[in-house]
Formats: sequence, structure tokens, C-alpha cells
Amino acid sequence: MSSLRFDGRVVIVTGAGGGLGRTYAVEFAKRGAKVVVNDLGGTAHGTSSSTSMADKVVQEIRAAGGTAIANYDSVEFGEKIVKTAIDNYGRVDVIVNNAGILRDKSFMNVTEEDWDLIMKVHLKGAYSVTKAAWPYFRKQQYGRVINTSSNSGMYGSFGQTNYAAAKMGLIGLSHSLALEGAKYNIFANSILPTAGSRLTLTVMPEEIVDMLKPEYVTPLVVFLAHESCQENGNVFEAGGGWYGQVQSYRSVGKAIANATAENIRDQWKAITDMKGAKHFESGKEVSADIISCASELKEQAEQEGHKPTGTTSNVKSAALFKEMSDGLKDNANLVKNLKAIVLYIITDGKKEIARFTLDLKNQPFCVYEGDVKKGEKPTTTLTVADDDFVQLSTGKLNPQKAFMAGKLKVKGNIMLLQKLSVIADKKKAKL
Ligand code: NAI
Repeated sequence: MSSLRFDGRVVIVTGAGGGLGRTYAVEFAKRGAKVVVNDLGGTAHGTSSSTSMADKVVQEIRAAGGTAIANYDSVEFGEKIVKTAIDNYGRVDVIVNNAGILRDKSFMNVTEEDWDLIMKVHLKGAYSVTKAAWPYFRKQQYGRVINTSSNSGMYGSFGQTNYAAAKMGLIGLSHSLALEGAKYNIFANSILPTAGSRLTLTVMPEEIVDMLKPEYVTPLVVFLAHESCQENGNVFEAGGGWYGQVQSYRSVGKAIANATAENIRDQWKAITDMKGAKHFESGKEVSADIISCASELKEQAEQEGHKPTGTTSNVKSAALFKEMSDGLKDNANLVKNLKAIVLYIITDGKKEIARFTLDLKNQPFCVYEGDVKKGEKPTTTLTVADDDFVQLSTGKLNPQKAFMAGKLKVKGNIMLLQKLSVIADKKKAKL
């Protein structure tokens, strides 16, 4: 197999004055690339600056016969860094967004300055350099972006809220760049490195730092940057000689029509069961899945011949059924033994104008506009004029008097209504 060469390619490595970035720059140059060695040359906490770090790496590359130029700008000024590539080598093909600093503190102690600085170097920096290179990539229909994320972002890390947030941001940036760039042969991936460097000295003992040489991460970055690599929008991990891929998976989950918080609680196991979980390639795919679930639920509801309460009906009683529905959510326990279905036929005094069903038989108990579901029969059917129903519900009309006066017609189990009104009175709930 041929070796992976970068002859004629121009590679920008940010933060290449030390640690991981230095090893990338040196390796790209060994493989024929012209390299822009960017480094601000400051401390690991993002203070001060110097030219010495970038210069030293450029000297190392040149001493080995490679081609490199230094750039000392902070990554937030991506245009200047890309300009160095264009002015000196006439093009830019690869960007390795690697520059980084730490401001580790517990969340309680993080200051706005710590937060902003971390965002500026990691997230804004990657944005800024990539943004400046993007028009060149588009024009030449070629580009490779490697963003440096971190396990601290992927899995969380005590004392690194600012850093973790910025590093996860880089994964979102890469995924979206990948989607936008694909048709122009511009690919973007993220890496999760683990390596001994001045940054990890604060969180790893020295002997471990020695075992995790930055050089172990380098081959992954070089491969991802090569024109033959077709990976796009993915996350890869490397450290101590181990290489792998990290993907997110989404549970099969559960579609629940008109769900209440109680339904979520009761279905929690099914909602969170990761058996059969699926990986999605883009947010668009996830949205499509959600929309298809929503339309299935809608279709199901239509087939069952009901619409959610209070949505389309303009009869006055509709609002009361909505209240009934809300009351039911809070009092489902009180009516769980009734196992009944009540059909309300609402009239304008003469003809029917709406139907509502109170289902206390099938879980989750609910009130919906429309007839009783197919295959079910009402335990009790009430026929009442819209205005009278309002009067009854607000206590202005006595149910017995209404019944005697023929304003309230009841078919089926009349005792059920008494049970319901006793419960409603006790709890002051609308049932
Ligand atoms: P490092 O401190 O040795 O290298 C970072 C380089 O970035 C330094 O040379 C520094 O001068 C430069 N830099 C800092 N701010 C800059 C700015 N505003 N503009 C230009 N250059 C700037 O650290 P290391 O470990 O090599 O880190 C490289 C990248 O890998 C960082 O983004 C870091 O967050 C990330 N990373 C490292 C891990 C590790 O285990 N070493 C783990 C996960 C992520």
C-alpha cells in the first residue's frame, strides 16, 4: 500500500508550538506538506504570548528538510493565520484546530472571564480559522478540518465546565460543517485525544503523562487529513496507542398520545431502554423520525375518531371538558376503580353540535372530543344542551332538577354519575 503523502498540500496546525500540535506539524512536514505552525506562545492558562514556541517547531521542521512557516496570532484571528498560508504557499488544504488552554475551576468559582476566554480560544478559534479557510476550500472543492474536542466534553469533567462546554461545541461545529461541506469535498471530523502534555500535567500524574506520548495521537490526525480519507462528521478517539470511534445512540423510545407527566413516569423504563438504540447521521434524520412519530400518533387519533379536547370545538362546553381533562390528570387515582366510559352528546337545544368522551376505563384516562373509540361502548350517555352543560358544571343548575325537567337525558348506568359527582365534590375537582 502506498504511503499517505501530502506533497503540494498546505496544512495549518494551530497551537503547534508544543504538545500534540507540534507532533502533527512535524509529521505533516515529513510527509511533504507545507505547514503553517501557528502558536501564540503563551501559558497554559491563556496569559502572555511569545514567538519562541512556533519558531522552535519551524526550525525543527526545516532542520529535517521540511517546509514550514510560523504564525504567532491568536486563533481568534483566523484570517491572519489563513493569510500566512495564502501569502507564503498560495493555498490552504487542511486545518487542524488544536490550540487550547485551560481555566480549570469548580463551577462555583468560574468567573465570566474564565468562561469567555475558554470559549474564545477553543470554540471561537476553531470557527475563526475554519471560516477564513472556507472560501478557499469551496473554490478548490477540497478541504479537511480536524477539530480537537475532548473526553471532558463528551463525558463531563469535574472542574472543567467551561472547557467541557467549549469542547462539546466543537463536535456540533464539526457535525454541521460536515453536512455543509460534503458536496464540495470538504470533510470535518473531531478527535478526542489523550496525551501527556503541559495541559494534562494538571490532571494526570507525571508517570502516566510519560506513557501517553502525543505521538500516539498523530497517526489518526494525519489519516483524517488525507485526501483518501472519506470520513466526514465523525468523532474519533486516540490515546496511548489505542484508536476508536465514538458515536451517540438514541433509544427506540416510546410515542405517547397526549402524554402527561404521569404517563412519562409510568413509561420511563420503555422511554429510556437502550436496547435497539440507533445512531443518527444528522439532526435532520432525528427530526424526520420525530415528525413521522407525530404523524403516526395523529393518524392513530384520527382513526380512533377523536381529537384532543379544546382544540377545534367552538362549543362553550369545550373549555369545560378541557378543565375536566386537566382535573383528571391530577385525580386519576380517585377514579381508577370506576372502569367506565361516559359519552356526552352536546346539543344546541335541538340538534347535536359536539360529542365528548370521558374514558375512565383505558389507561391513560382521558377526555377527548368525539365519539367513544371503536370497539368500546359508553357505560353512560348524557345528552344535554351546550348552555345547560355550562350551568350544570358551574353549579348553577342542579343535575337532579335538570334531569327531572328533561334538560339532561341519561342512558345507561345513572349511578356512575352520582359516584362521579361525589368524587368531584370531595376534591373540588371538575369531573
Ligand atoms: P499544549 O498546551 O501542549 O498545546 C496547546 C498549544 O496551543 C500551546 O502550544 C499553546 O501555546 C497554544 N495556544 C494556546 N492558546 C492559543 C491561541 N489563542 N492561539 C494560538 N495558539 C494557542 O496542550 P495539548 O495537550 O497538546 O493540547 C492540544 C489540544 O488538545 C488542545 O485543544 C487541548 O484542549 C486538546 N486536548 C488535549 C488532551 C490531552 O490529553 N493532552 C485531551 C483532550 C483534548
